[in-house]
Amino acid sequence: MANCTNHVTFVAFKKNTSKRMSPVDYIKDNKQKFLDELFSLLRIPSVSADPKYKDDVFKTADFVKNSLVQAGVDKAEICPTAGYPIVYGEKMIDPSLPTVLVYGHYDVQPADPLELWDSPPFEPVIKNDKIYARGACDDKGQMYMHVKAFETMMKTNTLTCNVKFMIEGEEEVGSENLEIFVKANKKKLEADIILISDTSMISLDTPSITVGLRGLSYLQVEVTGPDRDLHSGVYGGAVGNPINELCKMIASLKDEKNRITIPGFYDKVLDLTNEERKALNDAPFDLDEYKKDLKIAAVSGEDGYTTLERAGIRPTLDVNGIWGGYIGEGAKTVLPSKASAKISMRLVPNQVSDEISELFTKHFESLAPDTVKVKVIPHHGGEPAVTPTDSVAYAAASDAFVEAWGKAPIPTRDGGSIPIVSLFKDELGLDTVLMGFGLDSDAIHSPNEHYGIHNYMKGIETITLFYKHYANRSK
Ligand code: BES
Ligand code: MN
Ligand code: MN
Repeated sequence: MANCTNHVTFVAFKKNTSKRMSPVDYIKDNKQKFLDELFSLLRIPSVSADPKYKDDVFKTADFVKNSLVQAGVDKAEICPTAGYPIVYGEKMIDPSLPTVLVYGHYDVQPADPLELWDSPPFEPVIKNDKIYARGACDDKGQMYMHVKAFETMMKTNTLTCNVKFMIEGEEEVGSENLEIFVKANKKKLEADIILISDTSMISLDTPSITVGLRGLSYLQVEVTGPDRDLHSGVYGGAVGNPINELCKMIASLKDEKNRITIPGFYDKVLDLTNEERKALNDAPFDLDEYKKDLKIAAVSGEDGYTTLERAGIRPTLDVNGIWGGYIGEGAKTVLPSKASAKISMRLVPNQVSDEISELFTKHFESLAPDTVKVKVIPHHGGEPAVTPTDSVAYAAASDAFVEAWGKAPIPTRDGGSIPIVSLFKDELGLDTVLMGFGLDSDAIHSPNEHYGIHNYMKGIETITLFYKHYANRSK
């Protein structure tokens, strides 16, 4: 839907009578309130991938809208889409001041496998100064910091920029409707910069700003052999087994150097200069700690690249799930009719998601022996993005980190994907600043996802400082 004049809440202007307090004091004084509110948000299971949670996802949109109203926007709307709504809010204080467009998402990943959680995913608890819940970091915790930073600036009379909020509910399922919304609402979304907290920082001692994200091609493959399951004794050895064939096909997708064998896969990859690679590898990183944290004896990846490079600037291919045949208790002797897998490829500049999906499909189909048939079904995708480090907004974000964390942030390239970043550039002509406050160890998308209270509180402060420095540097 192109516009959302329904459901608009215009908020009457209320004079701010509270005595002047510094943003840092306001944040400190309201710590418990900020935590309680985030807990309420985390209690709503807004899993966008599972239709079972449909009502909860809608409820979460209402929660976000109400929180924007409470925080002091002049206008808040629930913008319906063909899927889950986009929450839009704005506070325009002066057309001559810069406008910051904040993006975030209120949907979360499914919580399963539930049995691996130490406490229920939608009943947030604090342990060791961390908030445990699905969405605590990705992205409810990080998104809500922006609402609280905005509230802080409103309540302390320190807001220096116009602000627009666009919070979606379909990020974890590909942001298809957001794309339509952005294309249809370019005027409404006019701004000077996009600000997102949905990435991670290196560590509490080493703040960083993400300047690159990988793209994504995600496909499902289905390999079919005989038209029904067969007795693995009666037919085994004489009829092609779809699971065995699928495994062989998947295994052949990488060579002995862990390079992807799909013809043309690397053709458009933009290689980094030696200086860029050096800068990337200068970031603090301890391989032993990394292995210890994951409880693995050795890392694995493309020959000739470091772990930081493999996970940040190189494209890759992974099986996300594989199934078929009998997986119940005990043993059933069966030669299955079908085998399936979900496969993702992470892409880097200048690879194009649709092109890579097509190359994959052609190649995968060609791998199938005559004994089986192959079907490739594309899921969502997204383009990689790089954001500039020589902009006013980057400098302001850097100032904000220096002031709040006492150290200049290091620019890093993250391996995850936020496909709308490249869309914002293409459709709105806007650059993004990725001010992430998560840690890689926060277990996003995993059981026991968590977010440090320190990250949450310090993040709120850092965001308020971004506005201050951005306005100052824009003068
Ligand atoms: N917030 C993440 C992306 C992310 C995480 C970027 C950590 C950098 C560091 C986001 O919610 C996400 O999970 N994105 C998906 C892509 C989407 C198309 C499903 C991803 O990366 O798998
Ligand atoms: Mn996210
Ligand atoms: Mn996510």
